Amino acid sequence: MSDESSAPEREMVRGIVDVLRYYGAMGIERFPFPVSNVKADGVSDSPDCHTATIDLDLTVREESALYVTQPSPSEKAKQLSALRDKIGDCARCKLSAGRTNIVFGEGNPDARLMFIGEGPGEDEDLQGRPFVGKAGVLLTRLIEKMELRREDVYIANIVKCRPPGNREPAQDETGSCRGFLEQQIEIIRPAVIMTLGNVALQTLMNNPALKISAVRGKLLEFKGHTVIPTFHPAYLLRNPADKWKTWADAQKALEKLHHGH
Ligand code: URA
Ligand code: URA
Repeated sequence: MSDESSAPEREMVRGIVDVLRYYGAMGIERFPFPVSNVKADGVSDSPDCHTATIDLDLTVREESALYVTQPSPSEKAKQLSALRDKIGDCARCKLSAGRTNIVFGEGNPDARLMFIGEGPGEDEDLQGRPFVGKAGVLLTRLIEKMELRREDVYIANIVKCRPPGNREPAQDETGSCRGFLEQQIEIIRPAVIMTLGNVALQTLMNNPALKISAVRGKLLEFKGHTVIPTFHPAYLLRNPADKWKTWADAQKALEKLHHGH
């Protein structure tokens, strides 16, 4: 942070330092979220500041973090269930007219890995569960190849009702649904989010210019969560030659989950 850092910035840094000192005094040195290489060098002295230089360099070394801020898995399950109740028999957008079931999402409320698809297809609409059709079989195989089970991860979609004829969800539809997805992410707090396909990528990142073909292989970030964009399994069913790329993306996700980088 430079000498030009504003008073509110300095205030914020001081607040953070106070909180961290407090945790340090209680013997808590590790955190369950990535705080590696947080640096705030050379915050300048000022008449109202007792700290001439703040040099934070926190590194999370192990997974065995003390869960100082994380709600318990059962608390997260309760929060997800409350969110589902809030959605109710939703009629906030026009997709409600054609749906059979709302597909809220499913999996481990405490998942460290979350998959986000586009929206329910026919099978999902009928069963009320995400990724249970042909694309779902491929996604499930990917998850198992990662040596995980569907119950270990969380699977959700950008829109929770099936777009008629599997068309792409429209902007007003993603707009009225994305708040629920954001709340799911906030509750679950996954370390890594894999977006499946262009719609999930563009909608989550709020950037319609993003293209999988251009950004895959890169790590993106959404509200502190690592985002790894990959192809939609339905695309891979049509283009099996690209499957190895999704496997490479999955390995990146596993590296991030196991080693935090
Ligand atoms: N495609 C999606 O994007 N989501 C599903 O749940 C199923 C198919
Ligand atoms: N376009 C998509 O929408 N999804 C893919 O996975 C690839 C291209």
